[in-house]
Amino acid sequence: MQVTVIAASTLCGRIGPGLIGSPQDRALLEQARARTDASLMGAETLRRWDPEMRGPGGVLPAGRIRAIISGSGSLPVRGKKLFSSGPPPLVFTSAVAAESLARSLGDLARVVALPRGPGGLSLAAALDHLAGLGVENLLVEGGGRLNYSCFQEGLVDELLITLAPKLSGDEGAPLFCAGRGGLGDPFLGLELVSCEVGGSGELFVRYRVRKKE
Ligand SMILES: NC(=O)c1ccc[n+]([C@@H]2O[C@H](COP(=O)([O-])OP(=O)(O)OC[C@H]3O[C@@H](n4cnc5c(N)ncnc54)[C@H](OP(=O)(O)O)[C@@H]3O)[C@@H](O)[C@H]2O)c1
Repeated sequence: MQVTVIAASTLCGRIGPGLIGSPQDRALLEQARARTDASLMGAETLRRWDPEMRGPGGVLPAGRIRAIISGSGSLPVRGKKLFSSGPPPLVFTSAVAAESLARSLGDLARVVALPRGPGGLSLAAALDHLAGLGVENLLVEGGGRLNYSCFQEGLVDELLITLAPKLSGDEGAPLFCAGRGGLGDPFLGLELVSCEVGGSGELFVRYRVRKKE
């Protein structure tokens, strides 16, 4: 499976708390959704925002999978459009939380239990499940803790990052990639594939990820 992480970041590596990207960046995100079979998002992003993961023209294709991962199984439902528009999302959670979450979500979502992985639940197992559903291209939409887990497990093929001409400076703001310990020795290497300059001074950069040996 081809796995792409996508994010818009300040130059200091922060992906929040507000909107970072321009309308041009938003359009690129929607196009990336259109090119992929599924999106995966971390529970904190759902808790903080009301993401729907729509494609170009606001479309939510019936066959495209929108997935959330939550170790705790603590997910907001009321007022979240993810559960009321488009096909029901897939929710990955722990074996402990799966039963009660499936009961409380009912027809609003499909709940799948995952085994433990190196940094929580196994993202490799999530990808296996998605592959079984026919997913060949996955878009990982963040936030930073989910991004870290995917890099940590060595699952990411490419990174699409929008570098916005902005600085946050807030040490409490969410990071593009955040977890325990470095991803490499000391860094995980990336290879530049392309870089385009946007109208508002953003850089749209595509990197290939050097896979761990
Ligand atoms: N600028 C951008 O491109 C962009 C994109 C997306 C999000 N964001 C921002 O990023 C912020 C959120 O980022 P974040 O790093 O705090 O959170 P996050 O990555 O969105 O979500 C973290 C949560 O996801 C679940 N999770 C992730 N990996 C897991 C694993 N391997 N096993 C089990 N559970 C896993 C856990 O849920 P539980 O806590 O339920 O266990 C974890 O606490 C928000 O402010 C959002 O707006 C920005």
